[in-house]
Amino acid sequence: MSRRTDYCGALRAEDAGRKVTVCGWVDRVREHGEHLSFVDVRDHTGVIQCVVDGTEDLRSEYVVAITGVCRLRPDGTANPNLDTGAVEIGECAVAVLSEAQPPPFSLSGRVEADEALRLRYRYLDLRRPQMQRNLRMRAAINAVIRRSMDAQGFVEVETPLLIASTPEGARDFVVPSRLQAGQFYALPQSPQLLKQLLMVGGMDRYYQIARCLRDEDLRADRQFEFTQLDAEATFVDADDVMAFISEAVLAATRAVRPDVEVGVIPRMTWQEAQDRFGTDKPDLRFGMELVELSEVFAQTEFRALQPPAVVKGMLVPGQGSMGRAQLDRLTDRAKVAGAAGLVWMRIGEGGAVDAPVAKFLSAGELGGLVDALGAGAGDLVLIVAGERRVANAALGALRLELGRPPVNEGGLRFLWVTEFPLFEGIDAAGGLIPAHHPFTMPHPDDLDRLESDPLSVRSQAYDLVLNGWELGSGSIRIHRPDVQERIFSLLGIESEQAKARFGFLLDAFAHGAPPHGGFAFGIDRIAALLAGEENIREVIAFPKTQSGVDLLTGAPSPLEPRQLKELGLQIPPKPAS
Ligand code: AMO
Repeated sequence: MSRRTDYCGALRAEDAGRKVTVCGWVDRVREHGEHLSFVDVRDHTGVIQCVVDGTEDLRSEYVVAITGVCRLRPDGTANPNLDTGAVEIGECAVAVLSEAQPPPFSLSGRVEADEALRLRYRYLDLRRPQMQRNLRMRAAINAVIRRSMDAQGFVEVETPLLIASTPEGARDFVVPSRLQAGQFYALPQSPQLLKQLLMVGGMDRYYQIARCLRDEDLRADRQFEFTQLDAEATFVDADDVMAFISEAVLAATRAVRPDVEVGVIPRMTWQEAQDRFGTDKPDLRFGMELVELSEVFAQTEFRALQPPAVVKGMLVPGQGSMGRAQLDRLTDRAKVAGAAGLVWMRIGEGGAVDAPVAKFLSAGELGGLVDALGAGAGDLVLIVAGERRVANAALGALRLELGRPPVNEGGLRFLWVTEFPLFEGIDAAGGLIPAHHPFTMPHPDDLDRLESDPLSVRSQAYDLVLNGWELGSGSIRIHRPDVQERIFSLLGIESEQAKARFGFLLDAFAHGAPPHGGFAFGIDRIAALLAGEENIREVIAFPKTQSGVDLLTGAPSPLEPRQLKELGLQIPPKPAS
């Protein structure tokens, strides 16, 4: 076999006259009479047309090396839709390097195959130009991030996969120990505690492109296994952390999406994000902001909008002719988000309001709300009243449902969301739910309210958001054992339990812990958004299905009885159904 001289997709008119060898897969064969076939040969760079003796038995996905002469295509036969469309390879000598069964789906990208089939034959799916592009883009993102972190003085440190549990709010994947039968390792939900120990260890600035594992329900933006750019630094404040992460993220974005303008990443407090967008991860690609209407209804006779309910409204431009069925669906959606109901108004010519509740409202109230929202003929107005949190959340959900552009439209709108509350709320058992992990430093101005009014305490935590997806989270950490113990006690993690689970961290803090903070963002998520994909599976070489199965290798699968015995494990028989 001759050595490859050129990639298929690289040949151009300037190459005409050169003897070339290309290697790759047969994309398509078109018979051209008895004696001639046009064979498109594909590699990761593209396809090239080869004019081959018709007696060769070539089929799709055969692996070939073709040596011939690059030449201009005859007049009138150039293909302007193909980068190599001006040329072809003639006088071909063909070496078949591997034969192939007919592929179970088309690899040309023209027809979208069933995803289960794509995952079962992922090695074929990976040959498709879109998957090639996505994985190469992901590699470029990783390379630029590494360069950026290196240049900013961060040191790459690998942390172990077999560790004790790190709490990030999900279930652990566990690994049984053979040497310590009956004992288990946990796979890291993140390197959180390890990176904090690295700070106590004087590493100053650490980063890692880290694999993390969490046993949680899978969604478009979630896999069991995922990758983070994980970073931590000492003697920094939140501004420093946001600055170094911005630098890395923007460098990666500019490298792979030079077509999109990105500037300094704006900031918004968590409370402002909730009030204006009804979420902690606003999608800034579109407007439809929530507007406070409580003033307008301060004196209303209409019970549902009376104080102390907070009244919030949203304008849906141009949707004033929405039908009852869809409005009922929106009402159901608002109820799922916790609202008692949804008030809707269709605005007609001259500001006429068409709404079942219009008769309960005064002319002043109707005029006031139309003014406050800037509503005009043909618009739809949606109003939710209730607790501020609930009104925001319900309208926030409707805003996304009605306004969100497709993933690859509307540009790339990054946002820092700052000053998250320390606690998200109270769970069914009356316990405080931490908004981030329990190592997050409270805002210094709120520390004295920690026990008296914990839900009002802000934290020094911040998220990075892109187009409505949470890309990453970080915080300044607690480095004082006394504050850490107060947080554990608020979370109901008793001293003994805290010692058993995190004793090593508390011990470390007793040995000179520098103030520190850091961040982690999802490589899968940023790669998906930059590639214009709706699902992170599209930027992962071998992802799991929604139900956590690897269709290619068959994982998860049972262990041999011998292995179970070695690990000291017993699987109870399945209960009779
Ligand atoms: P957090 O839990 O917010 O923070 O995770 C950081 C980022 O990791 C990504 N991510 C995931 N991506 C895909 N599938 C998943 N199941 C998944 N879970 C998380 C997201 C998320 O924003 N140790 C802290 C960070 C810190 O405080 O420094 C942490 O892991 O993009």
